[in-house]
Amino acid sequence: MWHPVFKEEELTSGKILCTNIVDKKILVMRSEGKLYSCGAMCPHQGVSMVDGWVFDDEITCPEHSWVFSLRDGSLTWPGSGPRIPIYPIRISDGFIEVEISTKPL
Ligand code: FES
Repeated sequence: MWHPVFKEEELTSGKILCTNIVDKKILVMRSEGKLYSCGAMCPHQGVSMVDGWVFDDEITCPEHSWVFSLRDGSLTWPGSGPRIPIYPIRISDGFIEVEISTKPL
């Protein structure tokens, strides 16, 4: 099921927004013209990554700078480790929508 979360114009490039869908904290962001959505909590020590940085197709946690791929949720720095959930995202009628009924990537 698709959930509208923000108006399209609220999400400027490089910005990270956080929302709750059902019982999940979800981040949405735009980078290099593409939209991404992932789980908000860093699997390292459970810190929210809403104050992190998005660059190209990666997000960096603000606490200890772990870096995750926004394509598949894999840890890209400092090495192999836990993944973050990635969710489908789209724009529909001017709203950003996130799909969370299917299993995350
Ligand atoms: S809590 Fe995210 S890198 Fe440590």
